[in-house]
Amino acid sequence: MSSSATAAAATKQGLVAVEEARRFMVDCLVRSKTPLAHAKQQADLLVEADYRGHFSHGMNRLEMYINDLHKNACSGEAVPTVLNETPATAWVDGNNGLGAVVGNFCMDLAIRKAKEVGVGWVCAKRSNHYGIAGWYTLRAMNAGCIGMSMTNTSPLASPTRSKEAALGTNPISVGAPGKEGDGFVLDMATTAVAVGKIEMQRRKNEPIPVGWAQGPDGHPTTDAGVAFDTACLMPLGGTELTSGYKGYGLGAMVEVFCGILSGANYATKIRKWTHAGADSEADLGQCFVAINPSCFAPGFEGRLSDLNSILRNMPMTDPEHPVLVAGDPERLHMAKVDRDGGLPYHVNQIKTCTELSERLGVKPIECIRGVKVGYPLKLNIVEKKEVNADFNSEFITRMLPRLEWSAICAAAANIGSDIPSTMPTDILNDMETLQKLHHILLEVDVVEGTLECPETGRIFPINKGVPNMLLNEDEV
Ligand SMILES: NC(=O)c1ccc[n+]([C@@H]2O[C@H](COP(=O)([O-])OP(=O)(O)OC[C@H]3O[C@@H](n4cnc5c(N)ncnc54)[C@H](O)[C@@H]3O)[C@@H](O)[C@H]2O)c1
Repeated sequence: MSSSATAAAATKQGLVAVEEARRFMVDCLVRSKTPLAHAKQQADLLVEADYRGHFSHGMNRLEMYINDLHKNACSGEAVPTVLNETPATAWVDGNNGLGAVVGNFCMDLAIRKAKEVGVGWVCAKRSNHYGIAGWYTLRAMNAGCIGMSMTNTSPLASPTRSKEAALGTNPISVGAPGKEGDGFVLDMATTAVAVGKIEMQRRKNEPIPVGWAQGPDGHPTTDAGVAFDTACLMPLGGTELTSGYKGYGLGAMVEVFCGILSGANYATKIRKWTHAGADSEADLGQCFVAINPSCFAPGFEGRLSDLNSILRNMPMTDPEHPVLVAGDPERLHMAKVDRDGGLPYHVNQIKTCTELSERLGVKPIECIRGVKVGYPLKLNIVEKKEVNADFNSEFITRMLPRLEWSAICAAAANIGSDIPSTMPTDILNDMETLQKLHHILLEVDVVEGTLECPETGRIFPINKGVPNMLLNEDEV
């Protein structure tokens, strides 16, 4: 028998304590030719990205760093050196070290200079992917300074009027301290959106807005599939008509301060970077600035907090969505992680971690508990068998809140069963539907097939039967 359908997959996230995520990252890096002190720096950066809600730049990136380290495309041991220095400036050779190691070195140097002479401006060449730009400005803010950081990245964005990508997503961060822990933390790519957002639209089979990305002819496309395959983002602002040239200008400005000022690779000269790692050195350029506000009008922090409160208290267009200042979404995310007691990693991220732990021989990552995400996995059945399981109403009742009904319907159709197209409101009293649900979840074993995650494109072979795979995710 052969069929393909969307399965009843109650896919979930695994909740991982922040310290456990850090422990796992450190262990993996130490097993990848990286001294403990450097592994800790890199892990602190990645954990902070996840804590702040930028999951694309946290644990998600670990595998890429590990692959680079194993291929010697990046050196875990390398320590940056200063090539040229004045009281306010430094030109640094990152010596192909880890991004966090180079970045921390440069920002700490900039802070020291800002404390001594009011401003420190440090540029590095031969660096690697440095994660969230905000990590370095937060470091400056913690020292009472205004911070700024930028990096160039592999080409992925088109200059306005260009058919092809020439600049990276080139992020900029500016952070300024306010009173009592408040602050302004702008941390943004200079492209309209991240590639991940296009990927999501493609999976949902939905169009993308004009201005996110362009097709192979260089014109904006609304087709998410074409946009994904072309891999050419538009700059912040989108098309020329909507002032995309300003985003293009910002991306190019980052390149001036990073690749050009430091003598690193720039624009199309930067290598491509994928999950498999790279075969050559990245030689990224980065820029780190610290400014001591006490060299200017007294009371900077108080005025900054006042500015924030003016902005936050503006009348709202939608009463459910108060006005925020840069850094607020991340603060809200951190508060949620604290409330929940851990970082919510997607089940496939946990599976990648499990693969990494097996590959590197480190203790697997430990989840506090699993929680529902609720998107369907794609089930491709090659062979199935029907088994007899005693009806277990307690189990089915417990599963109900975790199931995505549309996925259950698709799975039912896949195995030739039927079930109401929406979950009956009185399902707990609807024995017929409960028994059908039981049949779908427990009485059909897929002997052979695959389970595909549309979100990541990962494919998991089935060898234990689908119900077990779907329902045992509390254990991940
Ligand atoms: N190292 C690299 O190669 C690289 C490349 C690109 C991006 N990044 C990182 O990826 C992360 C995500 O970047 P992004 O551009 O997708 O960020 P984003 O679009 O989520 O947020 C950008 C900024 O806007 C602020 N913001 C969001 N909603 C807001 C609102 N309603 N009101 C006011 N401010 C609001 C955020 O606090 C943030 O400072 C960043 O940390 C960035 O540094 C890194």
